[in-house]
Amino acid sequence: MTHHSDIERQIEFDFLRATEIAALNTLQWLGKGQKELADAAACDAIRGMFDLVEMCGEIAIGEGIKDEAPGLFKGEKVGTWRAGAPRFEIALDPIDGTTNVAKGMPNSLSCIAAGLVTDGTPCLLDVPAFYMQKLAYPLEVRKAWVADPTLPIDIDAPVGEVIDVTAKILGKEVRDVVVSILDRPRNESFIDEVRRKGAALRLIQDGDIAAALAPAMRTSSIDLYVGIGGAPEAVLSAAALRCLGGGMRAKIWPRDEAERKHLEAIGWGDRLGTQFMSRDLARGDHIVFAATGISTGPLLEGVDVRGTIATTHSLILRAKSGTVRFVEAHHDLDRKTIHLRSTQAERRV
Ligand code: FBP
Repeated sequence: MTHHSDIERQIEFDFLRATEIAALNTLQWLGKGQKELADAAACDAIRGMFDLVEMCGEIAIGEGIKDEAPGLFKGEKVGTWRAGAPRFEIALDPIDGTTNVAKGMPNSLSCIAAGLVTDGTPCLLDVPAFYMQKLAYPLEVRKAWVADPTLPIDIDAPVGEVIDVTAKILGKEVRDVVVSILDRPRNESFIDEVRRKGAALRLIQDGDIAAALAPAMRTSSIDLYVGIGGAPEAVLSAAALRCLGGGMRAKIWPRDEAERKHLEAIGWGDRLGTQFMSRDLARGDHIVFAATGISTGPLLEGVDVRGTIATTHSLILRAKSGTVRFVEAHHDLDRKTIHLRSTQAERRV
């Protein structure tokens, strides 16, 4: 009998398999201009893999309300649901960067975060908004803030001040502090601030989960992630950052008055001004996170096919141990099959 305290150690590899096959099954749509079909392929593979996993899984955060994609949605039950199987709450983005996949551009990945349900308290907060304003930073910055909470590591602090304090903590010149921002008109003021400050700006087109994780990764040169991106992506990023040890602040950013009113009507009015920390979005210590690159980005390399070998690059994380594990897998396409939900059968990659 497996103790629940150990279960994440084993199940994380099943989540990893799920993101691996989502990436492998998405590859056929890279550059094909078909966002929905790419997303459907990723979801089909993830569902098919989940069908084989001994767990009582429930989707807490599926496709965001902003994506009208054919996806896994909140409330869907996944896993075998056999008696005695552990209960997991699951948040996932079968493809973060669907536009990038459709265009054959860099920076797309598939990722899953899960929290073991131990006492009925939800682990992953389903924020019913389109967007959140985010600030993600490295472990050193989080530690400095814990030691001195008066430091302006704050979602409402001017970005220039955040850059100044980050430079000091990291022992860098301001011009060497690298800030990543999603290139959108709504982020114009942050972009201007970074430029005015003279820090190093790196804009991304899509895919802000990789961008939010980057500051906490030893393998990345990004120091801060700033700006407004998807709300579900904020929770997935928070789950990963809980494992990595970096930090994130996030605040709901209603797109317009109608969304603000809607959020108030559904009881979220008192949280519109709340600054959520990573642990508010992804609670507890039983969090696991898996991601596999589809096309190459700052976090992970994409799927690479040479002859009959497909190589995938993945990351698995667990909050309890904090181990950051990169997994490079070589899949033999002559033998590898994918279990798809749609056909209930194994099919060649
Ligand atoms: P999807 O691939 O899931 O559509 O998300 C891509 C993405 O760039 C996210 O990484 C980001 O959080 C969000 O979209 C930004 O939203 P928008 O494209 O509406 O500005």
